[in-house]
Amino acid sequence: MTSSFRTVFVLALFICAIHQSKQEPCEPGMITNLTLNDNYILTWQTPADEKCEIQSYLVYISTVNGTVHYTYNVALPRLSIHTLPVCQGYTFRVHQVSTDSVTGLGWSLYMITPPPSDASLALDYLTLTEEDRDIRLQWSLEDQWVACARRYRVLIYNEDADEITDLYTISNTLLINNLVPCAHYTLGVTAIFTLIEEGPTTTVEHTVVDAVTAAPGVAGVRPEGTRVNFNWTLDAYNSNRCPIYSLVIDGSPYFNVSYDIQDQENRTPLPLTITGLSPNSLYILRVNTINSAGSSPPLQMAIQTSASD
Ligand SMILES: *[C@@H]1O[C@H](CO)[C@@H](O)[C@H](O)[C@H]1NC(C)=O
Ligand SMILES: *[C@@H]1O[C@H](CO)[C@@H](O)[C@H](O)[C@H]1NC(C)=O
Ligand SMILES: *[C@@H]1O[C@H](CO)[C@@H](O)[C@H](O)[C@H]1NC(C)=O
Ligand SMILES: *[C@@H]1O[C@H](CO)[C@@H](O)[C@H](O)[C@H]1NC(C)=O
Repeated sequence: MTSSFRTVFVLALFICAIHQSKQEPCEPGMITNLTLNDNYILTWQTPADEKCEIQSYLVYISTVNGTVHYTYNVALPRLSIHTLPVCQGYTFRVHQVSTDSVTGLGWSLYMITPPPSDASLALDYLTLTEEDRDIRLQWSLEDQWVACARRYRVLIYNEDADEITDLYTISNTLLINNLVPCAHYTLGVTAIFTLIEEGPTTTVEHTVVDAVTAAPGVAGVRPEGTRVNFNWTLDAYNSNRCPIYSLVIDGSPYFNVSYDIQDQENRTPLPLTITGLSPNSLYILRVNTINSAGSSPPLQMAIQTSASD
């Protein structure tokens, strides 16, 4: 009787234990706010709505090709990784492990480890070469820090127009076009390492080579019997700063005249009158702007004078 009672009791305990172990083990969700700060400390957080009790965190550190280099199991949501080589790309993956020893899904972060505080972050060199009107900048950091730079900021300052353009590149060379002929530029390159850390800016001065202007334009034309009045438009100063010397109106074989121009910053329409023409005649004109680089492409036009003035 006693023995049978004991059997039932043990059985009951056993069923109870089976029942307990049948409860779903808690599978944790993902961590948030995974970051690596400049002190080489990786931190993350368990979201406030995590339903499992977290026992530890699994951290995998792998290189770009996917090879896992380090595995850590830590109790607190932080890991100091001072031993990692500087300026190399790593993927950090963190999983939560619940008190039921279930590992949740991982969250990853790709980072280039930051340069040490004593790294030399100034450019080793910056060169400028002209390719027609365009220029090519090329630069580099000292070899050992090249891998540290995440990208470079290239600053293009047009001193005459007081205009700044910023460009970002991961390359160490940049072709810059659409520069204004005869304008003065300062070009600067800065290496950017982390969100806050960047090297000093290295600059180079440049004056763009002379280039001919676009063909002149006609803002107004009024032919009469023996003369024709024109208003000519010249290439704007902010698209070509090279000094303009003259405007040639070639009506060969009847006439070929050149007008000297006092160049000025606001190149307002230029009024000109050609006289001594014959009434009722057709003239074919080729008009060029002459500047420090030479003759612009021609504007070709036909003029028909009227019967009388
Ligand atoms: C993650 O960071 C954001 C902004 O810093 C903060 O508002 C949020 O509470 C953090 N998440 C957790 C789970 O602490
Ligand atoms: C992955 O890259 C590391 C160096 O970053 C190298 O040691 C390892 O051999 C590479 N593994 C494979 C499979 O390419
Ligand atoms: C040239 O421009 C002036 C000033 O705007 C104007 O008075 C004149 O009529 C124009 N001449 C022609 C030929 O369009
Ligand atoms: C017209 O004159 C310009 C110089 O003023 C000269 O360069 C050009 O050749 C002349 N055109 C002709 C057809 O002679």
